Formats: sequence, structure tokens, C-alpha cells
Amino acid sequence: MPVSVLGLSGSPHRHGNTETLLDAFLEGANSAGGQVEKVVLKDLDYNPCRGCNACHKTGECIVKDDAIPLFNRILSADCLAVASPIYSMGITAELKGLIDRAQFIWARKFILKNLYFPNEHIQRHKGIFISTAGLSWDNVFDAAFPAITAFFNTLGFEYYDNIIANDMDRYGGIRGHPTALARAREKGTQVVLLLEKMKEEAP
Ligand SMILES: Cc1cc2nc3c(=O)[nH]c(=O)nc-3n(C[C@H](O)[C@H](O)[C@H](O)COP(=O)(O)O)c2cc1C
Repeated sequence: MPVSVLGLSGSPHRHGNTETLLDAFLEGANSAGGQVEKVVLKDLDYNPCRGCNACHKTGECIVKDDAIPLFNRILSADCLAVASPIYSMGITAELKGLIDRAQFIWARKFILKNLYFPNEHIQRHKGIFISTAGLSWDNVFDAAFPAITAFFNTLGFEYYDNIIANDMDRYGGIRGHPTALARAREKGTQVVLLLEKMKEEAP
């Protein structure tokens, strides 16, 4: 089975800086033999979490929309690349809305205790955060990391790496950045080769 790589594009701006950076990562993953898919969150129809806590009793989300099949796809991927630009110092509404909808999986793990990801599973499932920001400020991504950490933790992915590029305003966009796209391609290749090796060693 090839290494499966799922990219979630959380930018509402099609083919903008962040999706372009995600595409470079996916190209690198594909060139190493990964089976690559991209989902554009803005094209899906899903609602925010209602906070009804029904999932605390059933482990299921009562809101039946595009988020449910997407979580099935996420849980069957070996590598999950989550991409969002920085909007108002955090991640986009599209991505945060999806992250909140993972609450039914959190409930299975921590309330119902009928779902458990062993360490071997987590080590073989890599999560990558991909982001761009307009400002030059080094700490511009800081508010995004905790939500991404929570998402990967809930879903059983090791938070493996960040591919981030700030100062987009100065560079005039991601294509003006001297290294970001090449680095994203390299990282895509590297993570697939690593996961392939892990599969070979312990199928
Ligand atoms: C609504 C909105 C809010 C933004 N807020 C910030 C911000 O708080 N900090 C920052 O550095 N850049 C901010 N930016 C700039 C974007 O992060 C930057 O241009 C990014 O590369 C856009 O990626 P995209 O082309 O994928 O949308 C904002 C842009 C928009 C549209």
C-alpha cells in the first residue's frame, strides 16, 4: 500500500499563497510515490460544532454534513497536511470550524474511552502544518499552533513539522519567497520516504 497523504486547504483564497505552498508539499510527496489527495475546505458544506454534547453519550456527531465523510478520510490517511493562512493572528474560520467538529472523536477517546491510538499508530501517522502570513513578525504563527496541536492529538497524528512562511507582504506572495516552495517540496518527499520505510520495516 502506498503512503497516503491528505492535504486540507483551509484558505478561502483559491490558489493563493497557502494553497500554493500546500501544493508544493503535495508535489514532493507525490514524486516520492505518495498517494496524494487535496480537499479544499471552502468547497465543502459543513457547520460549526453546536456544542450540544450529544457525542459525549454516543460518540457520533448529530450534524450530518460533509465533515463526517471528511473525518473518515482523515482517519485513513498516513500523513495529514493541514494548511491555513494567518487571519487575525489565528487560523481561518474554515479550518477552526472543522477542528471543532472533531469533538466526537475526542469524546470517543476521553469520555466514552472506546477509541485509543497506541504510540506505534501515532508514530506512523504524521501531521504537518502549512501556513503563510503577511507580517514579518517571527511570532505571527504562535496563536495557530495550539489548535493544530489539539487537532493532531485528537486524530492520532504525531505533530511532525511546520512549513511556514511569513513576510508575504514584503515578498509579494509565496512565489517571491526565496526558499519556501522548494523547502515544502523537499519536506513532502522526506515524509513519504520516512513513512514508506516505516511500512517496510513493520508492515
Ligand atoms: C482577513 C485577513 C486577515 C489577515 N490577518 C493577518 C494577520 O493577522 N497577520 C498576518 O501576518 N497576516 C494576516 N493576513 C495576511 C495573510 O495571512 C497573508 O496574505 C497570507 O499569505 C494569505 O494567504 P492566502 O493567499 O492563502 O489567503 C490576513 C489576511 C486576510 C485576508
